[in-house]
Amino acid sequence: MQLRKALAMGVMVLFWGGMAAAAQAAPAQPAQQASAASQADERDWWKNAVIYEIYPRSFQDTNGDGVGDLQGITRRLDYLKDLGVDAIWLTPIYPSPQIDFGYDISDYKAIDPRYGTLADFDLLVSQARKRHIRVIMDMVMNHTSDKHKWFLQSRSSRENPYRDWYVWHDGKKQTAEGKPAPPNNWQSYFGHSAWQWDENTRQYYYHKFYIQQPDLNWENPKVHEAFKDVIDFWMKRGVAGFRFDAITTLFEDPKLTDEGIVKDKAGKPVINAYGDPKLDDTKTNNLPGVHPVMREMRAAMDAFNSDAFPGTRVLIGETYLTNIGDLAKQYGSAEKPEFHLPMDTQLGFINKLDVAEFRVKLSDVETRIGGNTPLLVFDNHDNPRLDARYGDGAHDVDIERVLATVLFASRGTALFYYGDEIGMKTTPPTRKQDVKDPIGITGWPKEKGRDGERTPMQWDVRPGAGFTTGTPWLPIPESSKQANVEVEKSNANSIFAWYQRLIRLKKVNPAFAMGDNTMLDTSNTHVLSWERKTPGQPAVVISVNFTAGPQTVNLSGGGLSGKVRTLLKTPGAADPATPGSIPLGAFGVFIGQVE
Ligand code: GLC
Ligand code: CA
Repeated sequence: MQLRKALAMGVMVLFWGGMAAAAQAAPAQPAQQASAASQADERDWWKNAVIYEIYPRSFQDTNGDGVGDLQGITRRLDYLKDLGVDAIWLTPIYPSPQIDFGYDISDYKAIDPRYGTLADFDLLVSQARKRHIRVIMDMVMNHTSDKHKWFLQSRSSRENPYRDWYVWHDGKKQTAEGKPAPPNNWQSYFGHSAWQWDENTRQYYYHKFYIQQPDLNWENPKVHEAFKDVIDFWMKRGVAGFRFDAITTLFEDPKLTDEGIVKDKAGKPVINAYGDPKLDDTKTNNLPGVHPVMREMRAAMDAFNSDAFPGTRVLIGETYLTNIGDLAKQYGSAEKPEFHLPMDTQLGFINKLDVAEFRVKLSDVETRIGGNTPLLVFDNHDNPRLDARYGDGAHDVDIERVLATVLFASRGTALFYYGDEIGMKTTPPTRKQDVKDPIGITGWPKEKGRDGERTPMQWDVRPGAGFTTGTPWLPIPESSKQANVEVEKSNANSIFAWYQRLIRLKKVNPAFAMGDNTMLDTSNTHVLSWERKTPGQPAVVISVNFTAGPQTVNLSGGGLSGKVRTLLKTPGAADPATPGSIPLGAFGVFIGQVE
């Protein structure tokens, strides 16, 4: 929990779905015959896109080994198409010792045999493309696996040409055990010192994450060239972009200054889940050097041209930041662009249904990021799922409906995590010996690791939940009997049906798709209401009840008159007669068009 809280606090760094209704209705055209309108769609596809995060290990197994694979994802493309996703982001599928389940990469230009082959990957890309679904890769640039050939070289001797690819430093003077002490007090996000002693070359190497994830040295231009080459390799294979992992941690203070210790109100050091004093993260995170690197990577992506794969390749950032100003900077400028879509973790990780706070964060991305496209996200593979962060135990599905509404009915690109659409529940291990994620072992019992949000996708009611015919790598939760694709697809009131309808609205209703967001009824502390408006189109109003009690909202104050026609509402709710009196049940949602 502690790490996930840290992620949310910003302490840790840690896509052909045009929006136009017309394009949606038109049959798919071969690229060379694309009309002017659809060329524009290809260019701007990411601005109103729905992106689906897949944790490949847990999505669909096809060979019975209990681990998901690429053929499994290909098999489920029709499901994703039917749901309405424009792009899938795959967490790392490269060869890896799997210490951090793929985020420890040992070869950037291949596929881990557990997930398949490059041929499987090419088939996935081409099959996805047929369905107008784009494939986005995860790119880990902060560190490699300690089994990567670059690091094996680097650690072999101080004179090795790869020595300077990683962050090596002498220790401080000798300790009692005869080895020097670490260069400073820096810590790994995954617990304890960020420095690992290497007896062979008698220096320390730096790792912001696991010991098996040595940090690359971004002061070295060769590292930059190596990654541009990797990016090129995947773009040639038809990927539609990258999600840059842990990007804010590329640089560290060259003076190796100690980080400050965070103190509580009484002046005592705050102790984290691993039993270490909590540090302020100021010397190893969000240093200014990151921006030029992003400009360089973006320029390399923009310069890439391929007739075989037209359309913008999009750059997404894992950007846990503490304030809107820092988020705004991640976009760069028109002349020197950086990310297309840095993740806005300020909204999605508020972790409580607080109307005022939601209003501020939504207004911030409307008015304070220079007119850029927000990338809203509420969930991912590093944080407990929605039920654990927002649920009240009694109305979890209604609350999930509330969150999905904020996600899809706000201007921008929507990113969600596999299983959210069926209301999958967080299911952490109950015994230390069952934990798979190493931080759950180091941090037990305070930090149980991330297994709870990585359990297999729940397709149906069979023992392996339709995920596997073998033994799943993580257990299938009991809750899968109710929350699964098969059951929910046949229920018009399911959370799945709600996701599908919201996504459809986002594609076909012009105001809902691209309209400006204006907050309404801004003194209301129970209900969040806003309007979506685009010139020449009817406005859409949205009201979301953040409480378990019934509420009635009056939106006529904001200059709204006339009638309001229901586009979507919580199952069973009454239709309002006027914008002046919108009835909402517990955690109820109303979406209407003003006529
Ligand atoms: C990112 C990933 C997380 C991983 C870490 C180190 O935060 O989302 O899963 O453990 O980076 O690569
Ligand atoms: Ca498998």
